[in-house]
Amino acid sequence: MSQHTTSKQITNTELSAMKTRGEKIVSLTAYDASFAHILDTAGVEMVLVGDSLGMVIQGQTSTVPVTVEEMAYHSKIVSRGLQRALLVTDLPFMSYPDPQTAVNNAAIIMQQGYANMVKLEGGQKILDSVQHIVDQGIPVCGHLGLLPQSVNQIGGYRVQGKDEAQANIILEDAKCLEQAGASAIVVECIPASLAKQLTASVNIPIIGIGAGVHCDGQVLVNYDMLDITAGKRPKFSKNFMLEAGNVNDAVKAYVEAVKNSEFPAEVHSF
Ligand code: KIV
Repeated sequence: MSQHTTSKQITNTELSAMKTRGEKIVSLTAYDASFAHILDTAGVEMVLVGDSLGMVIQGQTSTVPVTVEEMAYHSKIVSRGLQRALLVTDLPFMSYPDPQTAVNNAAIIMQQGYANMVKLEGGQKILDSVQHIVDQGIPVCGHLGLLPQSVNQIGGYRVQGKDEAQANIILEDAKCLEQAGASAIVVECIPASLAKQLTASVNIPIIGIGAGVHCDGQVLVNYDMLDITAGKRPKFSKNFMLEAGNVNDAVKAYVEAVKNSEFPAEVHSF
């Protein structure tokens, strides 16, 4: 059984308290109300409407074509399946090129998508936008490491932060995001040792995906861990359907594995 330390609605302050208590934060993506309900009931604390929906729902080759309207729609229908979990929704590619556009689009995600927090990819380069969104009372989750919206610039989905210079930029980015008022940061595909250092160097929760077991929490794309995604599953994900046999039990097994620091194992880390 997963041990919910609270049955109350999860807030950004509760996430921060969980970091302080050393309790792992469990996150998964969802794109519709039915999956959202399953995740919420299983004890997932942070439900992410990721722009990964461009790939796993729409069948596109990257997240780049996803629009604000599509994010708001999926966020709205996910919100209907949630009672306890915090709803975090991605601002998609090119929806935060300057602070005012960023605030306008974050407002759409909050007002039409019923999100509790918006997520943006990048560090120091997008700091003005992060600051401006936070100043309007909208909680922000950063996203560092592999930035899927920049796939055409970085030339593929590769592990980031492997050399010292890159690692230092990621560490500095995290500190700047914290200073700008971000409530949490997702770190994607970075070495486990760097993620451990980063988690210790900021006070806000660090949620890893392909970033090792030492982060404050973990997130996966739900379709990957349920073995629904077409093609090869990423190394950092795990097929939780294999042993569980049904969706509810697979999600519960994931919650347990994250809470007990059994997932990710070394085989899922870089
Ligand atoms: O879009 C998404 O699903 C994400 C996760 C990979 C963290 O950003």
